[in-house]
Amino acid sequence: MKSFTELSKIFEERFAVRHFPDHTKTLYDPAQYILQLGGKRIRPVAVLMGNELFDEINPDAFHVAAAIELFHNFSLIHDDIMDKAPLRRGMETVHKKYGDSTALLAGDVMLIQAYEYINKIDAYHLQKVMQLFNKTAKEVCEGQQLDMDFESRSNVSLEEYVNMITLKTSVLLAASLQLGAILGGAREGSQQYLYEFGKNLGIAFQVQDDYLDAFGDPEKFGKQIGGDILANKKTFLMIHAMDTASPEQLAELNSLVANNPADKVEKVLKIFKDCKVDDWAKELKEKYLQTALKNLEDTPVVSSRKQSLADLAAYLIQREH
Ligand code: IPE
Ligand code: IPE
Ligand code: MG
Ligand code: MG
Ligand code: MG
Repeated sequence: MKSFTELSKIFEERFAVRHFPDHTKTLYDPAQYILQLGGKRIRPVAVLMGNELFDEINPDAFHVAAAIELFHNFSLIHDDIMDKAPLRRGMETVHKKYGDSTALLAGDVMLIQAYEYINKIDAYHLQKVMQLFNKTAKEVCEGQQLDMDFESRSNVSLEEYVNMITLKTSVLLAASLQLGAILGGAREGSQQYLYEFGKNLGIAFQVQDDYLDAFGDPEKFGKQIGGDILANKKTFLMIHAMDTASPEQLAELNSLVANNPADKVEKVLKIFKDCKVDDWAKELKEKYLQTALKNLEDTPVVSSRKQSLADLAAYLIQREH
């Protein structure tokens, strides 16, 4: 089985084309803009890896991988509007550059293009693929809604947070792997183990994303540091701080959240550090990584074929961007 790096090179060669017509330029250029900013391409490569775990790459896997990356980028454009994010992949977000209305439409048209790619696959797998894709897309919307609902709540539990990030982030990684497995001819049972691997890994991945949003290196991360703090996101950092803060720190946190002073990010970060969120981040990531690795171990495939997926898991929770 090929490594993540090898497969991403193969994917990138096919994906680095214009996915839209020339006209109407004011709609399609913004869509193409975000795709050209790159990104790690984790999910489409996960499709290829899920396929290769069971069999040689089915040519349809490239259509599904493209669809997944388009869906991901559509969700990022809309997410950046919802999160009022100025930066993505080290560059201006689509809505900052082209305005909110164009960003909404560019996102919509990318989602439609994703369906166009799915529609290219052989009829033999089409129904299963479409079902999983649609179930996942709805779950992402649910997760995104919960993420916003939590902004105005102060009593979000760790369990609710894990459920929210499972929906907004990890089911897409899980589904990418399973879609690949479907195209690779895997049995239902094997598909499920791989799905669970992706789900648990995706949770650890979002934990790392939330950690980097607060403590990442702005040069490497490519997104605004402290964006989650400014938006009052209930990440595990905020939940842990609220759970373990002293009465004085808790009062300060509540006042920072309520009043949005100019030094909010700096002050919240200081409380996060005092509450040892670093140790907690490591513990959480480790917990979900270990569960994921157990799911991978349980997947009924000869273990030598699983190494690339284990490597991907290790990379995703250590990543700096
Ligand atoms: C960003 O995903 C959105 C999250 C679910 C955290 P990635 O970190 O995979 O973004 P790109 O595609 O590599 O830019
Ligand atoms: C986004 O989570 C998940 C989706 C886009 C569905 P975040 O809001 O944390 O992602 P980033 O940090 O903006 O990439
Ligand atoms: Mg965001
Ligand atoms: Mg968001
Ligand atoms: Mg984030």
